[in-house]
Amino acid sequence: MDDLRVKYLKLIADASDESSLEDLRVQAVGKKGEISLQMRSLGKMTPEERQLAGPALNTLKDEVNSALLARRSSLADAALEERLKSEWLDVTLPSRTERQGSIHPISQVWEEVIAIFADLGFGVAEGPQIESDWYNFDALNIPGHHPARAEMDTFYTYRAEDDDRPPHVLRTHTSPVQIRSMEKMGAPLRIICPGRVYRADYDQTHTPMFHQVEGLAVDTDISMANLKWCLEEFVKAFFEVDSVELRFRASHFPFTEPSAEVDIRCSWSGGQLKVGEGNDWMEILGSGMVHPKVLKAGGIDPQKYQGFAFGLGIDRIAMLKYGIPDLRAFFDSDLRWLRHYGFLALDKPGLISGLSS
Ligand code: DAH
Repeated sequence: MDDLRVKYLKLIADASDESSLEDLRVQAVGKKGEISLQMRSLGKMTPEERQLAGPALNTLKDEVNSALLARRSSLADAALEERLKSEWLDVTLPSRTERQGSIHPISQVWEEVIAIFADLGFGVAEGPQIESDWYNFDALNIPGHHPARAEMDTFYTYRAEDDDRPPHVLRTHTSPVQIRSMEKMGAPLRIICPGRVYRADYDQTHTPMFHQVEGLAVDTDISMANLKWCLEEFVKAFFEVDSVELRFRASHFPFTEPSAEVDIRCSWSGGQLKVGEGNDWMEILGSGMVHPKVLKAGGIDPQKYQGFAFGLGIDRIAMLKYGIPDLRAFFDSDLRWLRHYGFLALDKPGLISGLSS
């Protein structure tokens, strides 16, 4: 037994890797291992012999097992040491200058808009992109026969012929989030809702999916003057200039009364879009005082509260700010375009750190 002890403890101490250690385990204490066979021979011994040999063999087996365990862990430590020596990284090196990926201009502008309105006290709300037609239309004072339904080029979801429930739509604007927010939060209320919207339309300035930000402020003393001030502050902050020229045009939306569309002065010369100069105007948003019926649909008392609302095209203002002449390019996933117009991933827009620099 002493021979076995000496032999295995030495072999184990000399084992140089995990697999030779495993071979040794099988050879010593495996099913047919030398020590296991000895234990099996206990049955053939006299009771006196067994009384001596039994505990001694058990002790030997335990000793071999713990030597195996200890060697295994010291081999693992040594292997780790080895890896740490060969695989190392100098964390003080400067980061790579070549770009791996970039932030899409829409994501960038989305964050810029949130940063500006957050500073004006607006929270961010969300709603579903597949919307019931009550939220998308009726609650916004666009009843079934209203021409605005046809004008919106709505995508309807499929319903089986014998299903007479009204179909859902891909929301045509972010305005339904006005209703959802009023229901959820009541008045007073100040929110913006950035999101995707859908219309069947396709040309240089229209794509079937695009992005809007809805704005809504409801309180007991809100007027058109508050709307105008907010929008002017927003536009100046967004374009990072002291003044831009806005044109408020009387307009009509079913959900606001009165309503105004807002255009911004720009030029398109040489196919390049520039803001703040030239003789063209680009429409960037629709706005107005929330219609009493809309407040009521959102569960708010129009006798007591008023509100202003606006719907702004994110893609439009991204084109203007970053001089992107064709809206469709936003969604082509052309790597050369993305590298040219994209933003560094770690430059999060903020009013203090700077919006786009
Ligand atoms: N929902 C309108 C659209 O998509 C935009 C809009 C106009 C939103 C006026 C408003 C608003 O909140 O007051 O064309």
